[in-house]
Amino acid sequence: MRWIFYVFCLLLRINFLGATETPIVGILALEPYGIQKFYPNLHISSYISASYVKFLESSGARVIPVWIGQSLEYYERVVRFTNGMLFPGGATYFNESKGYAEAAKIIFRLAEELNDRGIYYPLIGICLGMQVLAFASAGGKDIRIGCDAMKVSLPLEFDPNYSESRVFKDTPKEILSDLRDKNVTYNYHKYCLTDEVLNDNNLTDIWRIVTRNDDIHGKKFISIMEHKKYPFYGFQFHPEKSKFEFQERLMIPHDLYNRRVSQFFADFTVGECSKNNNTFPDRNIEHRSLIYNFNVVLGPINCSYLQLYLFTDSEPAQYQLV
Ligand SMILES: *[C@@H]1O[C@H](CO)[C@@H](O)[C@H](O)[C@H]1NC(C)=O
Ligand SMILES: *[C@@H]1O[C@H](CO)[C@@H](O)[C@H](O)[C@H]1NC(C)=O
Ligand SMILES: *[C@@H]1O[C@H](CO)[C@@H](O)[C@H](O)[C@H]1NC(C)=O
Ligand SMILES: *[C@@H]1O[C@H](CO)[C@@H](O)[C@H](O)[C@H]1NC(C)=O
Ligand SMILES: *[C@@H]1O[C@H](CO)[C@@H](O)[C@H](O)[C@H]1NC(C)=O
Ligand SMILES: *[C@@H]1O[C@H](CO)[C@@H](O)[C@H](O)[C@H]1NC(C)=O
Repeated sequence: MRWIFYVFCLLLRINFLGATETPIVGILALEPYGIQKFYPNLHISSYISASYVKFLESSGARVIPVWIGQSLEYYERVVRFTNGMLFPGGATYFNESKGYAEAAKIIFRLAEELNDRGIYYPLIGICLGMQVLAFASAGGKDIRIGCDAMKVSLPLEFDPNYSESRVFKDTPKEILSDLRDKNVTYNYHKYCLTDEVLNDNNLTDIWRIVTRNDDIHGKKFISIMEHKKYPFYGFQFHPEKSKFEFQERLMIPHDLYNRRVSQFFADFTVGECSKNNNTFPDRNIEHRSLIYNFNVVLGPINCSYLQLYLFTDSEPAQYQLV
């Protein structure tokens, strides 16, 4: 009789360690401010840098692009069908109407609702994505402050209570010591979240500050935070770049330690998404929603990104997860 149970589990894509072994993760697209100058003759309405896609793929996830500026019903489908969401880094404004921040805020609220109903739905924010988690958590208020941490690789400064965090609950010793001693977190940001701004906005009861770092002027910023109640995680640095971005002027480290740490954060992220058991309503919708339906392009020689997915207005109109 036991084999019937195993077949049942296989059919539902569930296993005994997590809820799915084949997670599908959404990546929210961004306005093209950071890249438009490289494409003066193209009307790009949003884009996703391929390094985030490859980062998730490197731990066994597949990706769907998530459009900005869509209806609530669309974002409800997104969170119902996917196993988690990544808010990528990049450059945009949080006050754009129908933009990245507005979409992130809607998804944040939907993810809170899912988790409150007992459905484990992770959100992972990288760089600007961590800042947008704070924006959404503060009810749509931009609480970031200016700082200067461009092109700097740093070891993490762990909070004394870091071992209570979920991020570092099962971290191998050698990864922890690399994170502590080596320059393995690559920062590229002019805005920061700090203990003070979280305090001032009553967010310290909600978010656990796991690690901090100093910017080039010695200003202390939060480099990892996690939600105390929900599986929401912010990484201020870029774990995806050391394996997948190679623009020389950005001085991204590519040594073995950086690549190993990158893999740790990819495994953590995808591991969290594996705890969710959402599925697409059918294989056809799943298949035509995957990012592999779109062509990746090689970025221009001076672009910050090696490969990108560029979207016009037509893709969001066609690919609505229905
Ligand atoms: C959005 O914010 C930017 C930067 O703070 C500002 O320059 C711009 O005027 C704002 N736009 C709107 C529509 O409020
Ligand atoms: C999915 O997980 C929820 C709890 O998170 C559980 O109630 C539900 O039964 C699970 N569904 C499947 C198909 O495993
Ligand atoms: C660490 O956690 C303990 C118990 O949860 C708490 O009393 C203490 O204030 C925390 N320390 C820091 C530095 O956050
Ligand atoms: C990390 O980088 C700083 C400069 O940014 C340098 O002074 C330090 O020696 C580096 N540490 C290691 C372990 O490479
Ligand atoms: C934070 O909480 C205090 C006490 O409840 C309240 O007076 C204050 O307005 C809150 N601040 C913000 C930014 O919500
Ligand atoms: C790329 O940047 C280099 C250095 O700034 C410059 O010399 C070169 O002209 C740029 N190439 C293109 C195609 O813009």
